[in-house]
Amino acid sequence: MAQIIDGKAIAAGLYEQMAAEVEKYAEQHGRRPGLYVIIVGEDPASLVYVRNKEIAAKKVGMVSEVIRMPESTTQEELLEVIARLNADDTVDGILVQLPVPRQIDKDAVIAAVAPEKDVDGFFGMKSGFTMKKGYVAPCTPRACIHLIKTTGTEIEGKHALVIGRGELVGKPVATLLLNENATVTIAHSRTRNLKEIALTADIIIAAVGKAHLVTGDMVKPGAVVIDVGINRNEEGKLCGDVDFATASERAGFITPVPGGVGPMTIAMLIRNTLDCYLARVNKR
Ligand code: GUN
Repeated sequence: MAQIIDGKAIAAGLYEQMAAEVEKYAEQHGRRPGLYVIIVGEDPASLVYVRNKEIAAKKVGMVSEVIRMPESTTQEELLEVIARLNADDTVDGILVQLPVPRQIDKDAVIAAVAPEKDVDGFFGMKSGFTMKKGYVAPCTPRACIHLIKTTGTEIEGKHALVIGRGELVGKPVATLLLNENATVTIAHSRTRNLKEIALTADIIIAAVGKAHLVTGDMVKPGAVVIDVGINRNEEGKLCGDVDFATASERAGFITPVPGGVGPMTIAMLIRNTLDCYLARVNKR
């Protein structure tokens, strides 16, 4: 029976540690880290997400504000707000909640955020399988790596299988695993023999968005299984890409959904904000 990786408890530990760091640095540098989240429109789920980001930032003693802009906002208006935050020395992290309304070019918006304030890690992960030095990594991929490490599993030399090749999780998490010296396989919807490949993996990261994709018979005994999926099962209950009941009988460690990667993603956003703050205050 697998040991469950408790993302909520691990995140709570990180918040506690970061709160202590914020107090120390605020004294040292005369100001607190600042995280600014921009939301355009009124998508109810997005409104909840941005509110949670603000709450998490304030919980560790950061300055944080959600900037709410109407659905009808033009690209020019949004870029103006970003430019103002870019120029504001008390702003360390800028996050534009996605998706943005149709009239706004998402890529132009992402590109407008100052690289050293890009807490989403989009800039840091911009070119192929390379992390740009001195910039933070995307939150969810970073959360996956942190969760693997908390199990005491050494990543170096291991076979890590990433299922999913999305820009937000699959590709960046494969890059981070490569940087940790894992041997990385990226599987996707066209992959043949997924089961055979999975059975040789010491680490499985499932990031597809398909319930019950990874079943117990695909898991090498003792493997670390990280489930990034967020789906609804037949009964409408929240579930991941991994069939938890069968996979947990074979895995050594496994993340639940909910309560695994989810709570860690915002914790890593706060970590990224703290890292951006530190990079900026230490540069002067
Ligand atoms: N919307 C859903 N997930 C994300 C994310 O990680 N970053 C941003 N900026 N928007 C999102």
